Amino acid sequence: PSMLDFVQQLPKAELHVHLEGTLEPEHIFSLAQRNGIELAYKTPEEVVAAYDFHDLPSFLAIYYAAMDVLRTEEDFYELAFHYFERAAAQNVVYVEPFFDPQAHTSRGVAFDTVINGIHRAQKDAAATLGVESNLILCFLRDLSAESAAEHLEMAVPHLDKLIGVGLDSDEKDNPPAKFAHVFARARDLGLKLTMHCDVNQKDILEHIGECLDLIKVDRIDHGINALEDDSLCTEIARRGLGLTVCPVSNRFVVQNLTAAEIRDMLARGMKATINSDDPAYFRAYMNENFMALVEEADFSKDEIRTLNRNAFEVSWMDEAKKADYL
Ligand code: ADE
Ligand code: ZN
Repeated sequence: PSMLDFVQQLPKAELHVHLEGTLEPEHIFSLAQRNGIELAYKTPEEVVAAYDFHDLPSFLAIYYAAMDVLRTEEDFYELAFHYFERAAAQNVVYVEPFFDPQAHTSRGVAFDTVINGIHRAQKDAAATLGVESNLILCFLRDLSAESAAEHLEMAVPHLDKLIGVGLDSDEKDNPPAKFAHVFARARDLGLKLTMHCDVNQKDILEHIGECLDLIKVDRIDHGINALEDDSLCTEIARRGLGLTVCPVSNRFVVQNLTAAEIRDMLARGMKATINSDDPAYFRAYMNENFMALVEEADFSKDEIRTLNRNAFEVSWMDEAKKADYL
């Protein structure tokens, strides 16, 4: 079979996808119409033409602006369910998606509206598409620690709907240490912990060090720059920490697919995984991320199998179910 057939048929897990980053241009239009919102663009094609990112802040500005069309529980249900349909079509059987509640409460959308819509889509996707998922609440690191703490308390009545917490948005001058108290509380609530250590950010090696020594994360999102420090690599490998790498996202944000870095991680025994990050914006879901590595760096079936197996291994899936995939 062709490499695309091989990638397609492999049952896959995705551990780094922002649900708001799955908002497709066509859906922006249908939501705007339903909610009576005037858009600055006339067609979905015009929206895509305006996707001009070259670094993290230029991406985030477009990502946050588009979310304004998400208002009702039904909107969040559709956002998540449409993503799960695309996942199912690519034989992605397990997902740990992120969502950004502060990007919605700041616009007057209630926390419960957001999480209830997403949760209902998760239940329907498991029942009708066979896609299982566990949700991760992300805090926006460019907002205050107090705001993060308030949102964690809003989540307490919904703990049964969450597997973990993460940290995303603009990393510059927003180190893990800023959120040490919030993440300690999340750990006490029984949640898993992960944080973005985005590629080539200011003070990135300090941020990765804080994740390991201060926050004691269960996983790292991206984490590419750890390769610059042998002691960080050794510790990440020793702990068996997963690294959720996003090749096509990296091509947009740092103009590099990071294929060599992914190979280096595997050679060092680090549990690298492949993910889409914001697939509607980077125009690449899971298959397209694997195929970019195949087409541009000649990744082999064995390498793809290893990366995909790592994803199941470092996932927070029920241990009994995990055994089916390992
Ligand atoms: N929010 C959505 N995608 C993100 C990314 N790649 N990095 C940081 N914050 C994000
Ligand atoms: Zn991300």
